[in-house]
Amino acid sequence: MTESNNNWEYAPSLEGTSHIQLKEKYDLFIDGKWVKPSNNRYFDTINPSNEEKLAEIAWASDADVDLAVKAARKAYVEVWSKMKASERAKYIFRIARLMQEHARELAVIETLDGGKPIRESRDIDVPLACNHFFYYAGWADKLQDAFPNRMIQSLGVAGQIIPWNFPLLMAAWKIAPALAAGNTVVLKPAETTSLTALKLAEIIEQSGLPAGVVNIITGHGDTGAAIVNHPDIDKIAFTGSTAVGKLIQKSVIVTAKRVSLELGGKSANIILEDAPIDQAVEGIVNGIFFNQGHVCCAGSRLYVQESIAEEVVRKLKQRMQSLYVGNPLDKNTDVGAINSKEQLSTIEKYINIGINEGADMFQVECEIPSKGFYCRPTIFTNVAQSSVISQEEIFGPVLTIQTFRTIDEVIQKANNSPYGLAAGVWTDKGSRIFNLTSKLRAGVIWANTYNKFDPASPFGGYKESGFGREGGLHGLEAYLK
Ligand code: NAI
Ligand code: MG
Repeated sequence: MTESNNNWEYAPSLEGTSHIQLKEKYDLFIDGKWVKPSNNRYFDTINPSNEEKLAEIAWASDADVDLAVKAARKAYVEVWSKMKASERAKYIFRIARLMQEHARELAVIETLDGGKPIRESRDIDVPLACNHFFYYAGWADKLQDAFPNRMIQSLGVAGQIIPWNFPLLMAAWKIAPALAAGNTVVLKPAETTSLTALKLAEIIEQSGLPAGVVNIITGHGDTGAAIVNHPDIDKIAFTGSTAVGKLIQKSVIVTAKRVSLELGGKSANIILEDAPIDQAVEGIVNGIFFNQGHVCCAGSRLYVQESIAEEVVRKLKQRMQSLYVGNPLDKNTDVGAINSKEQLSTIEKYINIGINEGADMFQVECEIPSKGFYCRPTIFTNVAQSSVISQEEIFGPVLTIQTFRTIDEVIQKANNSPYGLAAGVWTDKGSRIFNLTSKLRAGVIWANTYNKFDPASPFGGYKESGFGREGGLHGLEAYLK
């Protein structure tokens, strides 16, 4: 054991990378083939933990988007919509099985490209992504049972745009229900994390899925906008920032396109005085430091009942000291790299705002690597309800802490937010859970736990957190007429 700020340290335990296969250059996956971008433009994707280049990625133009939409339309009309649902189910099931076979490779690539700890990509992202395909494969030939007494009809071509915080998982959330409901897909991953979606394209190729049913095209915001504005798309599914969500809503308002938006959050994690405190502290840590706080439903606003506030904050600080911040490929790492330089500067901007607003900051005193993008886990106490840091989404490992006296007060404070994605409640009493869950305006509420996901349970928000639900039967409905 060596001396460090934490007084203890594990020996590094790096996940191997020799088994992964990455191409130097990735083209667009359109109509079952790998196609060069029409303007021959490519961009680099880097490893945010050390800033090294991983590969070059095609930057799709409007013409490429058009090619992808045409392929998706043709596959929809000629093949996918005519196929028996039980046959469609087999393809979705096969994709799930192939993903499982490639699970280790997918997890390592997710960690290299996005910066999240290998423990999370291995134990959470990849298994959940597989489970989404398995879950929806099961529904594909049972749609009539799922929605009795209704005429079941697919929508057509779905344009899907996803963010960088759960790259493979978001691709699964979008593609699996769309296919199960009989639609074809054009999907664009985020520009900083395209690699696992491109690996998924290789898996889809291996699965023998008919050409054009899933098209995966890469690029920046302009590529996303070209998908949104394409006239032959029937449905747009978007997960990302509220700013882009609003733009999308504006541009589809005069069209017949269906839209579902899953936007940001500023979720309240509420600890009542009868809560099991040690478990709650774990839940707070999991709620905000999990995946570097790059979680739309992160428990980023903590509300602690006054009588236990001192103890909770003391124990939280103690627990934070033992968080291991560093190389995401290390199996000991709790907090990995921030996804991009831009996101790191956004987070740092908010930390400075918090200091200038007069809140008290506490940061873990750990060493962080000199290369790459890292942020020390940070909490703010003495925070005003109206402060910028307690109102705006930071999307990083930064927690604001406020106290409250009564249940009515915390309900009012928790609901005082432009967002309404998730919330957490910690208490010993079931009646208090039911009381709070019925009054909190949030799409998902966890009781005595946080950040738990399952393909069968719907997910989505209120207010500026978006509309539409993903997961479960609700997620299928979003892809049916
Ligand atoms: P973003 O909303 O710009 O990116 C999300 C996706 O949308 C990416 O694939 C991007 O290429 C695409 N996109 C960008 N502009 C577009 C446009 N005009 N039309 C269509 N697609 C477009 O998010 P960004 O800039 O990466 O992150 C900014 C903030 O957004 C974060 O700090 C965080 O607060 C929030 N965010 C929320 C997420 C969530 O899960 N709800 C995920 C990622 C970011
Ligand atoms: Mg990257």
